[in-house]
Amino acid sequence: MKAHATTELNVPDRDFELTVRPTTFGDFVGQAKVRERLELAVEAARGREDVLDHVLLSGPPGLGKTTLAYILAHAMDVNIKSTSGPVIDKPADLAGLLTNLEKGDVLFIDEIHRMQKTVEEYLYAAMEDFVIDIIIDQGPNARSVRLDLPRFTLVGATTRSGLLSPPLRSRFGLANRLDYYRTGDLQAIVERSARILNVDVDAGGAEEIASRSRGTPRIANNLLRRVRDYAQVRADNRITKPVADKALAMLDIDEYGLDEMDKRILETIVHKFGGGPVGLNSLAVAVGEEADTIEEVYEPFLIQEGYLMRTPRGREATPLARQRGGLPPRGGPVSPELDLGA
Ligand SMILES: Nc1ncnc2c1ncn2[C@@H]1O[C@H](COP(=O)(O)OP(=O)(O)O)[C@@H](O)[C@H]1O
Ligand SMILES: [Mg+2]
Repeated sequence: MKAHATTELNVPDRDFELTVRPTTFGDFVGQAKVRERLELAVEAARGREDVLDHVLLSGPPGLGKTTLAYILAHAMDVNIKSTSGPVIDKPADLAGLLTNLEKGDVLFIDEIHRMQKTVEEYLYAAMEDFVIDIIIDQGPNARSVRLDLPRFTLVGATTRSGLLSPPLRSRFGLANRLDYYRTGDLQAIVERSARILNVDVDAGGAEEIASRSRGTPRIANNLLRRVRDYAQVRADNRITKPVADKALAMLDIDEYGLDEMDKRILETIVHKFGGGPVGLNSLAVAVGEEADTIEEVYEPFLIQEGYLMRTPRGREATPLARQRGGLPPRGGPVSPELDLGA
């Protein structure tokens, strides 16, 4: 079986994440704009002794959405209750969650785009007017009762902001999208995690891990653990660039940080569609992934890394992608013999 960078978690990974997860804005590396906006909102709300506005955090997996939800609650000095969209399966569950909050508390709903429509509709009034209407009794006695809720902060996280309904989206006062991290930020994250875990890593080693982490802190931390194991057994417990390089090569981690789907997308554009341009939907069918997942999860990384361009006519492979995929650059060097022959 081939090991590759993943964003899925098993149980030891989860414990590990809790150890290295930042708890304050000061520890949260990168995403400067998002962090600044949120810190400001917290400071303003605290200054007015007010409740923080509802916050939507969107972006691909492993970039820090859950982390930020906890940081927000911590910074506001309130409790946080955590749930996830698909888990709330009827309006009464939502009512139960909301009526148990105290003023100012954070309700964190992960994967909020997967909440059921019937539940979502109850959330509108809860977010806007801090009330929820519940139906009591059945049959002819059934009636709707309006419950007042404490003023609370909803923090919603989603990997697929495109799937969020407009009425829900518009009820978030603060909407923020997280982007893939630059190598320098990931290097700082690796160095911070290494300090917490007491792992000896030098700058070159941290950078090597960072550059192969697909712009994703969760992957960077996971790779750090794997490289640590390798260093412990084969390299005197010290992670340098050559050690990281050997460990990651042994694990089949792509040297450019691409995962299987990234590679499939690029190969498809380069080989099946001659480098593009190709429409998003045709591309989606060819690689067997949903169009909006490609658009929201894969494409941003490939564009940021300079492999893909979005043009009015569709997606196009850049010269870099063509080169790595073994195609000649577009309009590029045509050999003189061929010219003559033609
Ligand atoms: N900005 C950051 N600085 C340091 N570590 C981070 C940062 N963002 C994420 N992490 C690390 O990556 C892990 C995954 O982040 P998480 O918040 O669970 O991602 P998401 O909820 O977006 O999938 C966290 O446990 C944390 O250790
Ligand atoms: Mg999360």
